[in-house]
Amino acid sequence: PRKIIIDTDPGQDDAVAILLALASPEDVDVLGVVAVAGNVPLPLTEKNARIVCELAGKPETKVFAGEAEPIKRKLVTAEHVHGKTGLDGPKMDDPTMPLQDQGGVDFIIETLRAEPFGTVTLCPLGPLTNIATAFERAPDIVDRVQEIVLMGGAYFQVGNITPAAEFNIYVDPEAAKIVFGSGVKLTVMPLDVTHKALTTRPRVEAFRSIGNRAGRMVAEWTDFFERFDKEKYGSEGAPLHDPCVIAYLIKPDLFTGRFVNVEIETESELTLGMTVADWWRVSGREPNAMFMGDLDSDGFFSLLTERLARL
Ligand code: BDR
Ligand code: CA
Repeated sequence: PRKIIIDTDPGQDDAVAILLALASPEDVDVLGVVAVAGNVPLPLTEKNARIVCELAGKPETKVFAGEAEPIKRKLVTAEHVHGKTGLDGPKMDDPTMPLQDQGGVDFIIETLRAEPFGTVTLCPLGPLTNIATAFERAPDIVDRVQEIVLMGGAYFQVGNITPAAEFNIYVDPEAAKIVFGSGVKLTVMPLDVTHKALTTRPRVEAFRSIGNRAGRMVAEWTDFFERFDKEKYGSEGAPLHDPCVIAYLIKPDLFTGRFVNVEIETESELTLGMTVADWWRVSGREPNAMFMGDLDSDGFFSLLTERLARL
C-alpha cells in the first residue's frame, strides 16, 4: 500500500474521502490525518476528522490539528455548503478518540524526514496552508515527497466561491502558489472532474442499502450536502469532490487529464485564487501538474460503495 497523509477540512465530502481511505488498507496506509481550517474553523475540522475515524472503526488513526489561519489572509469558511458544524446532516456524538499533541505541520515534517525518500504521498483535501507551511519551515522535505494528489482548482468549470476561483485554492492562494511552484509531482482534481462525481438518487440509495452505519451516514450527509447544489445549480445531486483524490490512488484509470502548466493568481482582486491552467499549451511555461479533466463516474461510485460496505 501507498503511504499517505490526508490533509483535510471535513466537510461531508472530506469525510467520505477519509472513510474510503480507511476502508482500503491494501491500497493506502494512512500515516495520519491532519486537520486544517477551511470549510469551518480548525477546532471543528479536527473534531470532525476524529468523528469520521471513529465511524470507520479506526480510533487508532492519528489525528492532528494543523494551521488555524491561512498564511496571510483571514479565513473564509463555507458553512453555507456544509452547515454550522461542517458535518451537518445526521446527529453525531462527540468523538472519544484523542487528538495528537504534536502540531499537524510538525507531524508532516517529521514523517517526511523519517520515512524513506520518495515514499510518502500527501493528499490535501482543503486549503493548502499546512503543506505550504511545512515546505517553508523545512525545505529539505520538499524533495522527499512522492507525490501530491489534491482536490482544488477549476478550469472549464471556473469557480464555486467566486466566479473565478475554487474554494480550497481561494482560501489560501499564497499557500497554493508555494505548492504549485514546489516542483513536487502534482496531480490535481479540479471542479471539472469533481462535478462529474454527482450523487444521483440511485447512487445515494446504494450507499443507504449497504446496511452498515457508514453507508447510512454517507447517505445522510449527502442528503444534506445536496440541498445546496440542487438549489443553487439545479443539479441532480452534489459533487463528491474530495473522494476523487483517494479514488485516484486506488484506481487511477478512472481519471484522465493532461500534464500542463498551472499557475495560481494571488494579486488580482477579481480573479484571486484562480488556477490558470494552460490546457491548450499556449504559454510555453513548463508543465507542473497533471490536471484531471474527466472521470468514469459509474466506476467511481461502484468503487466507493464496495469499499464503504467493508466498514
Ligand atoms: C472543496 O471545497 C470544500 O468545500 C470541499 O470540501 C472541497 O474540498 C470544493 O471546492
Ligand atoms: Ca475539503
